[in-house]
Amino acid sequence: MDAVINHIKLNFSNYLEELKEYIRIPSISTLESHKDDMQKCAEFVRTKLIDAGMTSAEIFQTKGHPIVYGEWLGAPGKPTVLIYGHYDVQPVDPLNLWDNPPFEPTIKDGKIFARGANDNKGQNFVHIKSVEAYHKLTGSLPVNVKFIFEGEEEIGSFSLSDFLAEHKELLKCDAVLISDTSMYDAGIPTITYGLRGLLYMEVGITAANRDLHSGSFGGAVANPINELAKIISKLHDKDGKVTIPNFYKDVVKLTKQEKENFSKLKFSEKKLAKDLGVKELQGEKGFTALERIWARPTLDCNGIIGGFTEPGAKTVLPSKASAKISMRLVPNQDPRKIAKEFEKHFKALTPKSVKVDVKMAHYGFPVVAPLESSAVVAASKAVSKAFNKRTVYTREGGSIPIVVEFMEKLKAPAVLMGLGLDSDNIHSPNEHFRLENFEKGILSSAYFFEEYSKI
Ligand code: BES
Ligand code: MN
Repeated sequence: MDAVINHIKLNFSNYLEELKEYIRIPSISTLESHKDDMQKCAEFVRTKLIDAGMTSAEIFQTKGHPIVYGEWLGAPGKPTVLIYGHYDVQPVDPLNLWDNPPFEPTIKDGKIFARGANDNKGQNFVHIKSVEAYHKLTGSLPVNVKFIFEGEEEIGSFSLSDFLAEHKELLKCDAVLISDTSMYDAGIPTITYGLRGLLYMEVGITAANRDLHSGSFGGAVANPINELAKIISKLHDKDGKVTIPNFYKDVVKLTKQEKENFSKLKFSEKKLAKDLGVKELQGEKGFTALERIWARPTLDCNGIIGGFTEPGAKTVLPSKASAKISMRLVPNQDPRKIAKEFEKHFKALTPKSVKVDVKMAHYGFPVVAPLESSAVVAASKAVSKAFNKRTVYTREGGSIPIVVEFMEKLKAPAVLMGLGLDSDNIHSPNEHFRLENFEKGILSSAYFFEEYSKI
């Protein structure tokens, strides 16, 4: 074990160079124009899995982006870990807010800056490198390892969902190890046991059958932007509660114990407000910020489109306006049920003077993962060793839609060993990843294999 740890420390700068190469491939899943980059990135991952000692690694084409699978099953009698990661990244706009080009990784202040540096290339690469270190030094691994990497996490994991249903035997495992979440704070080893679900809707409002002169027609016909804004403003009440009927019906209430556990983490709302540059935080009445982010459902407008948005002025009464609205969900909300309630509610709020169209883009179920599984215990010990502190247990506000499917279809516990920080600007300009977390992440992964092989 000591030799493996030493090897990782000695080779860290090589690992960093390889991570840069991985990041330079602009694998933006949602943009059609990057389709070739998705294939290129999948091939990069496959090559790295072979280098790491996998006996086989292959690319599966899908209706969407390729899936990469690799395995090493040379430890009979030992448990099998399925390592999940996603090689796709979010778009980079607005480009002018980046200090360095998003796909030219830049090291500054002990951090690597680039799109994907954290979410998820930096985080998933730690497992490939720890496996490689073990394999190089010992010719073997303490547990059986399977890797499954997809290119559609940021757009709903549709292909992996189908793949999982069709390849249950191939992916059979005792635990699923995932690094795609955050640590509670810098230097605090963290295991996450809860994620929110997601429901993403698109709504369109049409008024007149064409754009109109706002002087000749303003006052006589509805303005779709005005109407859309009015409807959106009615989706929350004065207490910050979402007004969709039955929205909270299936929500599992926080227990007293869990509330206590949250408050023991001594989360500073003041510090968060300061960091974000706001005078005060805001949200559902009666809950702390941590409770609202981790365990309460929310609704947000993610984008709004309509009318004249170029520099200058144009007096126009637009024909159409639309919005992208997402909801973060918590156990036991069912996104499909909430989608129906949302549509009904939205339509009921729409006046007769306009037409409305409501579509669902994608959804994912919320997760609460068991903390008692031997894999979680091993992971907790592993991160604690690597970061040299006691592990804390958190829930989080983000979503990884495939996690529930892993748990249900493979009947295996999910281990969420996050290495990012909420302040790393994922999905935002100047995304970054701490080099310290990259290195300690590789160590955590190595310790995990060791700990998990003991059971
Ligand atoms: N890594 C994130 C999820 C995450 C972020 C979990 C922070 C915990 C803390 C993941 O890549 C992600 O962004 N997921 C999307 C899913 C969606 C597009 C279906 C999300 O949460 O918006
Ligand atoms: Mn993401």
